[in-house]
Amino acid sequence: MSNSSQAGSTYDGFAEAYVARAETNAFNALYERPAIRALLPSVVGQHVLDAGCAGGAHSAWLLEQEAKVTALDVSAHMVALTRKRLGTRAQVHQADLREPLSFLEEGSVDIVLSSLTLHYLEHWEPTLKEFHRVLVPGGRLVFSTHHPLADCRWVSGGDYLQTERIEQHWEGFTETPVRVSFYRRPLGAIFAALAESGFVVEQLVEPRPLQEMREQEPEIHARLMKEPWFLLIRASRSQLPRA
Ligand SMILES: C[S@@+](CC[C@H](N)C(=O)[O-])C[C@H]1O[C@@H](n2cnc3c(N)ncnc32)[C@H](O)[C@@H]1O
Repeated sequence: MSNSSQAGSTYDGFAEAYVARAETNAFNALYERPAIRALLPSVVGQHVLDAGCAGGAHSAWLLEQEAKVTALDVSAHMVALTRKRLGTRAQVHQADLREPLSFLEEGSVDIVLSSLTLHYLEHWEPTLKEFHRVLVPGGRLVFSTHHPLADCRWVSGGDYLQTERIEQHWEGFTETPVRVSFYRRPLGAIFAALAESGFVVEQLVEPRPLQEMREQEPEIHARLMKEPWFLLIRASRSQLPRA
C-alpha cells in the first residue's frame, strides 16, 4: 500500500465518527479551533485554502466570515462530508498534500490554513513550496500541528532532534482501535523547512485553552494550562532562498 492510500484510508475508516467528535471535543472546540482562528489575518473577501479540511468545520466558519474557500483533503470520505456540509459555496477537492496542487494557479490564494494536518507528512518542503507557489506575494500560511515536546511522551527513548514516525491506536471511534501514524519533528526542523520554502515566521503560539474548558473538562484544562499539546505558526510568503 502506498503512503498516499494509507493516509487517505486512515481517515476514511472513521471519518463520520471523527467529525462528530471534533465538533464538541475539548481539544478541538475549546483549544485548537479558537486559537488558529485568532491567529488568522482578516479573511473577509480573501481566497483561503483549507488544506486538510476533514469535515469542513474551518471551511464553514471561513464562509461565514465572507471568505472565498477552496478546501482539500486526501480522504474521499472527508471530501464527501465537506461537500455535503458546504454544498456549492466552496470548491472541495480530493487531493494529497504530497502531490502538486495542480488545480490551483500560481499566486491565486491569499491565505493557506492548515489545521492539525501537516504532521501526517514526513517531508514538509515539497508541500510548503507548493503553498508558496499558490500564495500571492505576502500571502499568509497559518497552521497548527502537534507540539514537538508534547509528542515526545509517545516515544520511549525517542530522539528529540530527529524526525520520528509515531504510531498510535485511537479508541472510541470504531469497534476496534484505529491505527494512526504521524511524524514528530523538532522545532528547528519546522523553522528550517519554512525558511527553505520561502516563509518568514511572524508569530508562534503555544495556545491556552478557553476559560469554558475549566468547567467542562477541569483536568484537561489544568494540564493544557501547563503543557501545550499543539503549536501554531503564522508565516508570511517571502522570497525563495537563492539556490
Ligand atoms: C486531524 S484532521 C484535521 C482536522 C481539521 N482541520 C478540522 O478542522 O477538524 C487531519 C486531516 O488531514 C487529512 N490528511 C492527512 N494526510 C493528508 C494528505 N497527505 N493530504 C491531504 N490531507 C491529508 C486527513 O484525511 C484528515 O482529514
